[in-house]
Amino acid sequence: MTLAQAVPPDADPDCGYTIHHADALEWLATAPENSIHAVVTDPPYCVVEYTPTQIAKQRSGRGGIWRLPPSYDGASRRPVPRFTALSDADRDGVAQFFTEFATLVLPVLVPGAHVFIATTPVMSHLVYGPMIKAGFEKRGEIVRIVKTLRGGDRPKNAHDEYPSVSVMPRASWEPWGLFRKPIEGRVSDNLRRWGTGGLRRISDEMPFRDLIECGPARGIERQIADHPSLKPQVLMRQLVHAALPLGDGVILDPFMGSGATIAAAEALGLASVGIEIDAKFYAQAAAVIPRLAEMQCGHLPDAPQRF
Ligand SMILES: C[S@@+](CC[C@H](N)C(=O)[O-])C[C@H]1O[C@@H](n2cnc3c(N)ncnc32)[C@H](O)[C@@H]1O
Repeated sequence: MTLAQAVPPDADPDCGYTIHHADALEWLATAPENSIHAVVTDPPYCVVEYTPTQIAKQRSGRGGIWRLPPSYDGASRRPVPRFTALSDADRDGVAQFFTEFATLVLPVLVPGAHVFIATTPVMSHLVYGPMIKAGFEKRGEIVRIVKTLRGGDRPKNAHDEYPSVSVMPRASWEPWGLFRKPIEGRVSDNLRRWGTGGLRRISDEMPFRDLIECGPARGIERQIADHPSLKPQVLMRQLVHAALPLGDGVILDPFMGSGATIAAAEALGLASVGIEIDAKFYAQAAAVIPRLAEMQCGHLPDAPQRF
Protein backbone atom coordinates (compact mmCIF):
# COMPACT_ATOMS: atom_id res chain seq x y z
CA MET A 1 0.00 0.00 0.00
CA THR A 2 1.23 3.50 -0.80
CA LEU A 3 0.45 6.04 1.87
CA ALA A 4 0.48 9.78 1.26
CA GLN A 5 3.50 10.34 3.39
CA ALA A 6 6.91 11.90 3.48
CA VAL A 7 8.98 9.33 5.34
CA PRO A 8 11.86 10.96 7.21
CA PRO A 9 15.03 10.43 5.19
CA ASP A 10 16.65 8.58 8.08
CA ALA A 11 13.86 6.01 8.65
CA ASP A 12 13.51 2.84 6.65
CA PRO A 13 9.83 2.85 5.54
CA ASP A 14 9.52 -0.96 5.50
CA CYS A 15 11.23 -1.94 8.73
CA GLY A 16 14.19 -1.01 10.88
CA TYR A 17 14.80 1.89 13.19
CA THR A 18 16.91 4.99 13.56
CA ILE A 19 17.95 6.54 16.85
CA HIS A 20 19.32 10.01 17.55
CA HIS A 21 21.25 11.50 20.44
CA ALA A 22 19.38 14.82 20.48
CA ASP A 23 16.95 17.08 22.27
CA ALA A 24 13.51 15.95 21.11
CA LEU A 25 12.16 19.49 20.97
CA GLU A 26 15.03 20.60 18.73
CA TRP A 27 14.67 17.49 16.57
CA LEU A 28 10.92 18.01 16.18
CA ALA A 29 11.44 21.66 15.19
CA THR A 30 13.28 20.54 12.04
CA ALA A 31 11.49 17.25 11.27
CA PRO A 32 9.46 17.16 8.03
CA GLU A 33 5.73 17.82 8.24
CA ASN A 34 3.37 14.81 7.89
CA SER A 35 6.21 12.33 8.31
CA ILE A 36 5.30 10.33 11.46
CA HIS A 37 2.29 8.01 11.83
CA ALA A 38 2.19 7.50 15.61
CA VAL A 39 3.97 8.49 18.81
CA VAL A 40 4.34 6.01 21.65
CA THR A 41 6.28 7.62 24.46
CA ASP A 42 7.05 7.67 28.15
CA PRO A 43 8.26 11.26 28.65
CA PRO A 44 10.02 12.77 31.69
CA TYR A 45 6.84 13.10 33.79
CA CYS A 46 7.96 16.09 35.81
CA VAL A 47 10.76 17.18 33.41
CA VAL A 48 13.20 18.11 36.21
CA GLU A 49 13.92 14.47 37.13
CA TYR A 50 15.90 13.97 33.90
CA THR A 51 17.82 17.25 33.99
CA PRO A 52 21.61 16.68 34.10
CA THR A 53 21.80 17.73 37.79
CA GLN A 54 19.04 15.39 38.96
CA ILE A 55 20.12 12.44 36.85
CA ALA A 56 23.70 12.85 38.20
CA LYS A 57 22.25 12.62 41.73
CA GLN A 58 20.21 9.56 40.75
CA ARG A 59 23.31 7.87 39.30
CA SER A 60 25.40 8.56 42.40
CA GLY A 61 22.56 7.48 44.72
CA ARG A 62 22.59 10.96 46.28
CA GLY A 63 18.87 11.69 46.35
CA GLY A 64 17.64 14.91 44.83
CA ILE A 65 14.17 14.34 43.43
CA TRP A 66 14.92 10.59 43.12
CA ARG A 67 14.03 8.95 46.45
CA LEU A 68 13.31 5.50 47.72
CA PRO A 69 9.54 5.47 48.22
CA PRO A 70 8.86 5.40 51.96
CA SER A 71 7.56 2.02 52.96
CA TYR A 72 7.67 0.05 56.15
CA ASP A 73 7.08 -3.41 54.79
CA GLY A 74 10.71 -4.39 54.14
CA ALA A 75 10.24 -4.87 50.36
CA SER A 76 13.20 -3.94 48.15
CA ARG A 77 12.60 -0.67 46.30
CA ARG A 78 14.13 1.36 43.48
CA PRO A 79 14.38 5.15 43.61
CA VAL A 80 11.49 6.98 41.94
CA PRO A 81 11.00 10.70 41.30
CA ARG A 82 8.85 12.39 43.94
CA PHE A 83 6.21 14.32 42.03
CA THR A 84 4.70 15.67 45.22
CA ALA A 85 7.97 17.54 45.95
CA LEU A 86 7.45 19.85 42.95
CA SER A 87 7.04 23.59 43.48
CA ASP A 88 4.44 25.68 41.65
CA ALA A 89 7.24 26.92 39.39
CA ASP A 90 8.23 23.30 38.61
CA ARG A 91 4.62 22.50 37.71
CA ASP A 92 4.43 25.55 35.44
CA GLY A 93 7.64 24.28 33.84
CA VAL A 94 6.04 20.88 33.19
CA ALA A 95 3.01 22.48 31.53
CA GLN A 96 5.33 24.71 29.46
CA PHE A 97 7.43 21.69 28.38
CA PHE A 98 4.35 19.78 27.21
CA THR A 99 2.97 22.89 25.49
CA GLU A 100 6.18 23.10 23.45
CA PHE A 101 6.15 19.36 22.81
CA ALA A 102 2.49 19.31 21.68
CA THR A 103 2.94 22.36 19.44
CA LEU A 104 6.07 20.97 17.79
CA VAL A 105 4.86 17.39 17.33
CA LEU A 106 1.45 18.22 15.80
CA PRO A 107 2.69 19.31 12.34
CA VAL A 108 5.19 16.43 12.17
CA LEU A 109 2.34 13.91 12.47
CA VAL A 110 0.11 12.86 9.59
CA PRO A 111 -3.63 13.53 10.04
CA GLY A 112 -5.18 10.82 12.21
CA ALA A 113 -1.89 9.89 13.90
CA HIS A 114 -2.32 8.71 17.48
CA VAL A 115 -0.15 9.73 20.41
CA PHE A 116 0.14 7.33 23.35
CA ILE A 117 1.74 9.21 26.23
CA ALA A 118 2.53 7.76 29.66
CA THR A 119 1.96 9.87 32.74
CA THR A 120 0.90 9.54 36.37
CA PRO A 121 -2.40 10.32 38.09
CA VAL A 122 -0.67 13.23 39.87
CA MET A 123 0.74 14.90 36.75
CA SER A 124 -1.59 13.88 33.89
CA HIS A 125 -3.53 17.17 33.77
CA LEU A 126 -0.27 19.02 33.03
CA VAL A 127 0.18 16.83 29.94
CA TYR A 128 -3.41 16.49 28.72
CA GLY A 129 -4.32 20.21 28.90
CA PRO A 130 -1.45 21.34 26.63
CA MET A 131 -2.09 18.48 24.16
CA ILE A 132 -5.75 19.49 23.76
CA LYS A 133 -4.88 23.20 23.58
CA ALA A 134 -2.37 22.50 20.80
CA GLY A 135 -5.11 20.92 18.67
CA PHE A 136 -5.14 17.20 19.54
CA GLU A 137 -8.39 15.34 20.21
CA LYS A 138 -8.41 13.33 23.43
CA ARG A 139 -9.48 9.84 22.39
CA GLY A 140 -9.37 8.18 25.77
CA GLU A 141 -6.97 6.94 28.35
CA ILE A 142 -5.31 3.56 28.63
CA VAL A 143 -5.19 2.23 32.17
CA ARG A 144 -2.21 0.04 32.88
CA ILE A 145 -2.80 -1.92 36.06
CA VAL A 146 0.59 -2.02 37.74
CA LYS A 147 1.17 -2.50 41.42
CA THR A 148 3.92 -0.17 42.65
CA LEU A 149 5.39 0.86 45.99
CA ARG A 150 4.53 4.51 45.33
CA GLY A 151 2.18 6.21 47.81
CA GLY A 152 0.20 4.50 50.52
CA ASP A 153 2.62 5.63 53.23
CA ARG A 154 1.64 7.04 56.60
CA PRO A 155 2.38 10.68 57.55
CA LYS A 156 6.14 11.34 57.62
CA ASN A 157 7.72 10.97 61.07
CA ALA A 158 4.28 10.22 62.55
CA HIS A 159 3.43 6.76 61.31
CA ASP A 160 3.13 5.41 64.86
CA GLU A 161 0.85 8.29 65.79
CA TYR A 162 -1.41 7.82 62.74
CA PRO A 163 -1.29 4.10 61.94
CA SER A 164 -4.66 4.19 60.16
CA VAL A 165 -3.81 7.07 57.76
CA SER A 166 -2.27 7.05 54.26
CA VAL A 167 -1.18 10.39 52.83
CA MET A 168 -1.91 9.28 49.25
CA PRO A 169 -3.35 6.14 47.68
CA ARG A 170 -0.89 3.32 46.96
CA ALA A 171 -0.45 3.66 43.19
CA SER A 172 -1.88 0.65 41.39
CA TRP A 173 -2.35 2.02 37.88
CA GLU A 174 -0.60 4.13 35.29
CA PRO A 175 -2.53 6.35 32.87
CA TRP A 176 -1.52 6.62 29.22
CA GLY A 177 -3.19 9.58 27.51
CA LEU A 178 -4.50 8.71 24.06
CA PHE A 179 -4.66 11.60 21.58
CA ARG A 180 -5.24 11.93 17.84
CA LYS A 181 -4.33 14.60 15.32
CA PRO A 182 -7.63 15.57 13.66
CA ILE A 183 -8.51 13.37 10.70
CA GLU A 184 -9.27 14.44 7.13
CA GLY A 185 -12.86 13.46 6.27
CA ARG A 186 -14.11 10.14 7.66
CA VAL A 187 -11.88 7.55 9.33
CA SER A 188 -12.05 5.42 6.16
CA ASP A 189 -10.92 8.41 4.02
CA ASN A 190 -8.06 9.09 6.40
CA LEU A 191 -7.04 5.40 6.48
CA ARG A 192 -6.89 5.31 2.69
CA ARG A 193 -4.85 8.49 2.39
CA TRP A 194 -2.59 8.37 5.43
CA GLY A 195 -2.94 4.86 6.90
CA THR A 196 -4.01 6.34 10.24
CA GLY A 197 -7.10 7.45 12.14
CA GLY A 198 -7.95 4.20 13.93
CA LEU A 199 -6.29 1.64 16.16
CA ARG A 200 -5.13 -1.79 15.10
CA ARG A 201 -7.25 -4.59 16.53
CA ILE A 202 -5.66 -7.36 18.57
CA SER A 203 -7.35 -9.75 16.14
CA ASP A 204 -10.34 -9.58 13.79
CA GLU A 205 -12.53 -10.65 16.72
CA MET A 206 -10.90 -8.52 19.40
CA PRO A 207 -10.52 -4.71 19.42
CA PHE A 208 -7.68 -3.00 21.24
CA ARG A 209 -8.75 -2.40 24.83
CA ASP A 210 -8.00 0.48 27.17
CA LEU A 211 -7.22 -1.72 30.18
CA ILE A 212 -3.92 -3.57 30.29
CA GLU A 213 -2.63 -5.50 33.26
CA CYS A 214 1.15 -5.43 33.17
CA GLY A 215 3.64 -5.43 36.05
CA PRO A 216 6.98 -3.57 36.11
CA ALA A 217 9.93 -4.66 33.97
CA ARG A 218 11.85 -7.26 35.95
CA GLY A 219 14.33 -10.12 35.65
CA ILE A 220 16.16 -10.59 32.37
CA GLU A 221 14.64 -7.41 30.92
CA ARG A 222 16.10 -5.36 33.77
CA GLN A 223 19.45 -7.08 33.36
CA ILE A 224 19.46 -6.10 29.69
CA ALA A 225 18.43 -2.45 30.21
CA ASP A 226 18.70 -0.95 33.66
CA HIS A 227 17.03 2.39 32.90
CA PRO A 228 15.27 3.92 35.96
CA SER A 229 12.00 4.16 33.98
CA LEU A 230 12.23 1.00 31.87
CA LYS A 231 8.86 -0.05 30.41
CA PRO A 232 8.26 -3.76 29.86
CA GLN A 233 8.20 -5.20 26.35
CA VAL A 234 4.91 -6.98 26.99
CA LEU A 235 3.24 -3.58 27.46
CA MET A 236 5.11 -1.69 24.76
CA ARG A 237 4.43 -4.31 22.08
CA GLN A 238 0.68 -4.08 22.73
CA LEU A 239 0.77 -0.27 22.42
CA VAL A 240 3.01 -0.19 19.38
CA HIS A 241 0.85 -2.83 17.69
CA ALA A 242 -2.30 -0.75 18.28
CA ALA A 243 -0.67 2.52 17.17
CA LEU A 244 -0.47 1.74 13.43
CA PRO A 245 -3.95 0.58 12.34
CA LEU A 246 -2.74 -0.94 9.07
CA GLY A 247 0.68 -1.98 10.36
CA ASP A 248 2.28 0.57 8.05
CA GLY A 249 4.09 3.84 8.79
CA VAL A 250 6.69 5.20 11.20
CA ILE A 251 6.43 5.31 15.02
CA LEU A 252 8.30 7.98 16.96
CA ASP A 253 9.47 7.84 20.56
CA PRO A 254 10.92 11.32 21.27
CA PHE A 255 11.93 10.33 24.84
CA MET A 256 13.14 6.79 24.24
CA GLY A 257 15.33 6.20 27.32
CA SER A 258 16.79 2.74 26.76
CA GLY A 259 14.65 2.23 23.67
CA ALA A 260 11.75 0.05 24.89
CA THR A 261 9.35 1.50 22.26
CA ILE A 262 11.89 1.11 19.49
CA ALA A 263 12.63 -2.49 20.51
CA ALA A 264 8.90 -3.26 20.58
CA ALA A 265 8.47 -1.81 17.07
CA GLU A 266 11.47 -3.78 15.86
CA ALA A 267 10.06 -6.99 17.37
CA LEU A 268 6.86 -6.43 15.38
CA GLY A 269 8.64 -5.44 12.15
CA LEU A 270 7.48 -1.80 12.32
CA ALA A 271 9.60 1.22 11.36
CA SER A 272 10.50 3.60 14.18
CA VAL A 273 12.60 6.59 15.18
CA GLY A 274 13.88 7.20 18.72
CA ILE A 275 15.35 10.33 20.33
CA GLU A 276 17.28 10.52 23.62
CA ILE A 277 19.01 13.55 25.12
CA ASP A 278 21.22 11.81 27.68
CA ALA A 279 24.49 10.38 26.29
CA LYS A 280 24.57 7.36 28.63
CA PHE A 281 20.96 6.39 28.01
CA TYR A 282 21.45 6.89 24.28
CA ALA A 283 24.48 4.57 24.31
CA GLN A 284 22.52 2.07 26.40
CA ALA A 285 19.64 2.16 23.90
CA ALA A 286 22.00 1.61 20.99
CA ALA A 287 23.39 -1.47 22.75
CA VAL A 288 20.19 -3.02 24.10
CA ILE A 289 17.45 -2.43 21.50
CA PRO A 290 18.38 -5.56 19.49
CA ARG A 291 18.40 -7.68 22.67
CA LEU A 292 15.06 -6.32 23.93
CA ALA A 293 13.58 -6.87 20.46
CA GLU A 294 14.67 -10.51 20.48
CA MET A 295 12.99 -11.24 23.83
CA GLN A 296 10.03 -13.60 23.87
CA CYS A 297 7.56 -12.18 26.35
CA GLY A 298 4.14 -13.76 26.39
CA HIS A 299 1.36 -13.24 23.88
CA LEU A 300 -2.12 -11.92 23.30
CA PRO A 301 -4.89 -14.29 22.17
CA ASP A 302 -4.91 -14.67 18.38
CA ALA A 303 -2.37 -11.90 17.98
CA PRO A 304 -0.75 -12.12 14.56
CA GLN A 305 2.62 -11.07 15.98
CA ARG A 306 4.72 -12.35 18.84
CA PHE A 307 4.35 -10.27 21.97
C1 LIG B 1 10.71 8.20 31.37
S1 LIG B 1 12.20 8.01 30.54
C2 LIG B 1 11.81 6.87 29.22
C3 LIG B 1 12.23 5.45 29.55
C4 LIG B 1 11.83 4.46 28.48
N1 LIG B 1 10.41 4.29 28.46
C5 LIG B 1 12.49 3.10 28.69
O1 LIG B 1 11.75 2.09 28.78
O2 LIG B 1 13.71 3.03 28.76
C6 LIG B 1 12.31 9.55 29.69
C7 LIG B 1 13.61 9.74 28.93
O3 LIG B 1 13.54 10.99 28.23
C8 LIG B 1 14.83 11.55 28.19
N2 LIG B 1 14.66 13.00 27.92
C9 LIG B 1 14.36 13.98 28.81
N3 LIG B 1 14.26 15.16 28.16
C10 LIG B 1 14.49 14.92 26.86
C11 LIG B 1 14.51 15.74 25.69
N4 LIG B 1 14.28 17.05 25.74
N5 LIG B 1 14.78 15.15 24.49
C12 LIG B 1 15.02 13.82 24.41
N6 LIG B 1 15.03 12.99 25.49
C13 LIG B 1 14.75 13.54 26.68
C14 LIG B 1 15.42 11.21 29.54
O4 LIG B 1 16.85 11.27 29.54
C15 LIG B 1 14.86 9.80 29.78
O5 LIG B 1 15.78 8.80 29.39
